[in-house]
Amino acid sequence: MDWYSLYSECPRMVLGLSLSAGLLVYYMLEAVKRPLLACRHSAWRGFLETNLTILKERYWPTPWCYESRCQTILASVLRSRLPDITYKRELLELKDGGQICLDWLETTSEVDQPIIIILPGLTGSSQSEYVKSFTARTYCAANSDDLEEAIEHIRAKFPKAPLMATGISLGGMILGNYLVTRGEQAAQHLVAAMVLSIPWNVFVGTESLEKPLWNLLLNRHLANCLCESIRSMRKQLEGDYKWDLDHVMEVLYGIPVEAANKSSHVAIIVTARGGHIGFMEGVFPTNTYYSDRIYKQLVNGIFSNLDKIKEVKREADEHAQLIAADSTNGSVS
Ligand SMILES: *[C@@H]1O[C@H](CO)[C@@H](O)[C@H](O)[C@H]1NC(C)=O
Ligand SMILES: *[C@@H]1O[C@H](CO)[C@@H](O)[C@H](O)[C@H]1NC(C)=O
Ligand SMILES: *[C@@H]1O[C@H](CO)[C@@H](O)[C@H](O)[C@H]1NC(C)=O
Repeated sequence: MDWYSLYSECPRMVLGLSLSAGLLVYYMLEAVKRPLLACRHSAWRGFLETNLTILKERYWPTPWCYESRCQTILASVLRSRLPDITYKRELLELKDGGQICLDWLETTSEVDQPIIIILPGLTGSSQSEYVKSFTARTYCAANSDDLEEAIEHIRAKFPKAPLMATGISLGGMILGNYLVTRGEQAAQHLVAAMVLSIPWNVFVGTESLEKPLWNLLLNRHLANCLCESIRSMRKQLEGDYKWDLDHVMEVLYGIPVEAANKSSHVAIIVTARGGHIGFMEGVFPTNTYYSDRIYKQLVNGIFSNLDKIKEVKREADEHAQLIAADSTNGSVS
C-alpha cells in the first residue's frame, strides 16, 4: 500500500502522523540542545567543564511544554505543592534601622561548614518554591546595602566557613550589583556566586514584558504575586512599583555572551529553551529541574575543590589586571 492509498483510506491518521513527526523533528532540532558556556579559555572554564558534567548533556525541556512562558507558569504551579521548610529565623537589625530575616536551614557547630546565602526574587521569600527546590529586606535591585551587612554579619559569625551566594531573579540583580560595586570586598568574603534567571538588560526585558497578549499570562501571574505581597506591606512598597518590571523573563537577546567570553571572572550558561525560573525536563517533569542540577554540580564542585578554586581565582585576578592595564593604555581590543 502506498502513501496515496493510505491517505485516501484514513486521511486523519496520515495527517496526524505527519504533524507529530514534524513536531518531533522541530523539537529535536530546535529545543533539545547542549547549553552554551560563555567563558574565556581559563582555569575557571576548565573547572566548569570538568566539574559540571551536565554541560556536556543536552537539555531535554518537557516536550509538551517547552515554550518559555509555559515553562515559567507550569514550573511554578508544580513547585507550589512543595511542603514548607522549617527554618531557624534570625532577625538582623540593620544600620539604617531596618530589619531583615536570615532563615537558617540548619545550624551547625562546625566552624568551617560551608554556607550558602540564597536571595529570592521579587515578592519571594525563603519559602518560595524555587528556594525549596534548590535545596533580604530590600526591593531595589540597585541597592545591595542590606546584602552587604548580611554577608558581613555571617562572616563575623562564621569567619572560617567558605561562603557562597546565589541570587534568583531580582535577588540575582542585587547580588550582581553587590559583586560589581564591592568587588574587592566581595572577593574576600565569597568563594563563588551564582545568579539565575536575571534580566541582563532591564530595558530589553521591560519592553518584552510590556508586550500585550504575548506575555499576558505571565504578567497576570506576577501581578497576582505582587498584589498579594503588597497587601501585607503596602506602606513599604508604595512608590516602588517600577520594580515589578524587573521580573522579566524574555531576556535571551539581552544576554552579554560576548562580554562573558572576554571576562576575567564571569561565566554564563545559556540554554536554548526554558522559562523564567522554569527549567522543567523530560516528558513527566519532576520537582528536580535542570537549573537545580546545574546548581548542585556547581556547589559540589566549588566546595570540594576549595584549594583549586583559589588558583582559579588567582588566574582570573591576573587576567583582570591585564584587562585594566590594557584599558588604561587606551588599547581595548
Ligand atoms: C573540578 O575542578 C578542579 C579544578 O579545575 C579539578 O582539579 C577537579 O579534578 C575537578 N573535579 C572533577 C570531578 O572533575
Ligand atoms: C562565545 O564563545 C562561544 C564558545 O565558547 C562561541 O560559540 C560564541 O560564538 C562566542 N560568542 C561571542 C558573542 O563571542
Ligand atoms: C601600558 O603602558 C605602559 C607604559 O607605557 C607599559 O609599560 C605597559 O606594558 C602597557 N600595558 C599593556 C598591557 O600594553
